[in-house]
Amino acid sequence: MLVMAVANQKGGVGKTTCCVNLSAELGRMGIRTLVVDADPQGNSSSGLGIDRSALECSVYDVIAGNLSASEAVVATAWENVFLLPATLDLAGAEVELAGAMSRESRLRRKMTDLKGFDIVLIDCPPSLGLLTVNALVASDGILVPVQCEYFALEGLGQLLRTMDLVRSYLREDLSLSGLVMTMFDGRTRLSREVMEEVRRQFGDLVLETVIPRNVKLSEAPSHGRPIGYYDPQSAGAEAFRDLAREVSQKWLGRKL
Ligand SMILES: Nc1ncnc2c1ncn2[C@@H]1O[C@H](COP(=O)(O)OP(=O)(O)OP(=O)(O)O)[C@@H](O)[C@H]1O
Ligand SMILES: [Mg+2]
Repeated sequence: MLVMAVANQKGGVGKTTCCVNLSAELGRMGIRTLVVDADPQGNSSSGLGIDRSALECSVYDVIAGNLSASEAVVATAWENVFLLPATLDLAGAEVELAGAMSRESRLRRKMTDLKGFDIVLIDCPPSLGLLTVNALVASDGILVPVQCEYFALEGLGQLLRTMDLVRSYLREDLSLSGLVMTMFDGRTRLSREVMEEVRRQFGDLVLETVIPRNVKLSEAPSHGRPIGYYDPQSAGAEAFRDLAREVSQKWLGRKL
């Protein structure tokens, strides 16, 4: 089971869009995928069509309480996609955990009882607080969505420093697995320039698949459907099919 944190402390860069749609496409390729919603906003949970008000337990009970991870997993309507959902009380976990023992490794420890998944994608909140640190410690690698806009690389240094700290003290084998360019607009020079700059700095770590700016991708969450089930013909759906193929080949060693 490969565990990937989808992280960037910058808000609105496409972390959740990646988790929801990449999981759905991986699932359709026969890869059993679990999304862990580690963001109190719960956007991955609602984007996958899960009604959060009807939930009996959530990732909060796993991180801050006594529930094991597998007890909180729910099935989604999408083939091979499962979810460890978030509810608003997760926001309190950050404070409640502040003085707790092994507070950075809670999620990792709890996830050891998960079985039967090929890949886990952890949707991180836009901060470098305890929830993100818990996600990093629980992960083998990090996927960083980078928005094709002017301040794209701002703050990335901070994320990399946090990753280094986690590596030094908590999880030696954590690696930066890749960056994925999001909201690319081929008509603007800015999008192309940002992409070139990120490629110059990060080389092969930048995934080949680029996610275009596509209005269907922004509509799909309000219908609680991943893009491949909302508008399979859209450019956004096509991009996430490509991303799923690239990820499964690169990280899971499966050619599809
Ligand atoms: N490729 C895209 N094309 C068009 N809209 C997009 C695209 N990717 C994301 N969006 C929209 O941009 C907004 C931010 O995306 P998303 O929620 O995935 O970012 P995030 O990094 O998870 O944000 P947060 O930091 O708040 O968790 C959302 O409204 C989403 O629907
Ligand atoms: Mg999000």
